[in-house]
Amino acid sequence: MLIIANWKAYIESVEKGKKLFAAAKRLSAKHEIVLAPPAPFLGILAHGNRSKVSFIAQDISRTTGGAQTGENTAAAIREAGATYALIGHSERRAMGEDNALVAKKLQHALAQGLTPVLCIGERERDAEGQYLAFLREEIESAFASLSQKERLQVVIAYEPIWAIGKSAAESITATDLTEMVLYIRKVLADLLPGRGASRARVLYGGSVEPENARALAQGSGIDGFLVGRASVEPDSFAALVKAVTV
Ligand code: PGA
Repeated sequence: MLIIANWKAYIESVEKGKKLFAAAKRLSAKHEIVLAPPAPFLGILAHGNRSKVSFIAQDISRTTGGAQTGENTAAAIREAGATYALIGHSERRAMGEDNALVAKKLQHALAQGLTPVLCIGERERDAEGQYLAFLREEIESAFASLSQKERLQVVIAYEPIWAIGKSAAESITATDLTEMVLYIRKVLADLLPGRGASRARVLYGGSVEPENARALAQGSGIDGFLVGRASVEPDSFAALVKAVTV
C-alpha cells in the first residue's frame, strides 16, 4: 500500500521529525511510506535521502520562481528531495483555494516531475446525493487542462471533510468507502484512457487509525491511506502500518 503520513503542523521540531523518519524506515519493507513534513523540515530530512521512504510536500505555491516572497515552488520542493506533492488538501481549500487554483498547482507539480496527490472530499453528505456531483466536479476541473499522459500520473486521495480529525468510530465505514472508490473510478473512467481508471491509485484519508485501518483496507479497492494525527507518533503509525500488513 501507499501510506502517506501527513504531519500537518503537528511537528515543530527537527528532532521529532528525525525520530519519525527513522521509524518510517523500519516500516518501509512492505509498503511505500511517504512522509509530508512541514516545509522547513522537508529539505533537512529529504535531501540526499537514499532510503525506501519518500517525501511529499504538504502544498506547493501557485507560482513558478521569481519575485514571490514566502512561496515554495514546485521546483524548489523537488530540489529539496520530495517526489510527490499534496494538492488541494481540504485544510488548504478552507484557506481559500478553489478548483481553478488546484488545477494550476497540479500542472506546476507535473511540470517539475512531482507526482501529485489530488485531495478531494465533500464537507457533508446530503440525502439527494449532491455530494457525488461535487466530487465529480473536483476531479473534472482538476483534470481539464492535463494531457492524457499527465492524468495517468495523478494519485487521488478521497478525504471526506466530515471524517477528518475525528476518531476511528466517526470515520467512514468500510461499506461506504467501497462504494466511494467505485464511484471515483467510474468518474476516472470518463477521463483516463484505456485501463487507466482501474490502475489509478486511489487513497483514503480521514481518521484512519490502528483500530480501523485494516477494515478500511480490506476489500474496499483502495491503494493506500493519507494519515494525519495517527502518523505523528511513532507507535501509533507503526501500529497502523502493521494493521494493514498481511
Ligand atoms: P486525520 O487527517 O488522519 O487526522 O483525520 C487526515 C488528513 O487530513 O490528511
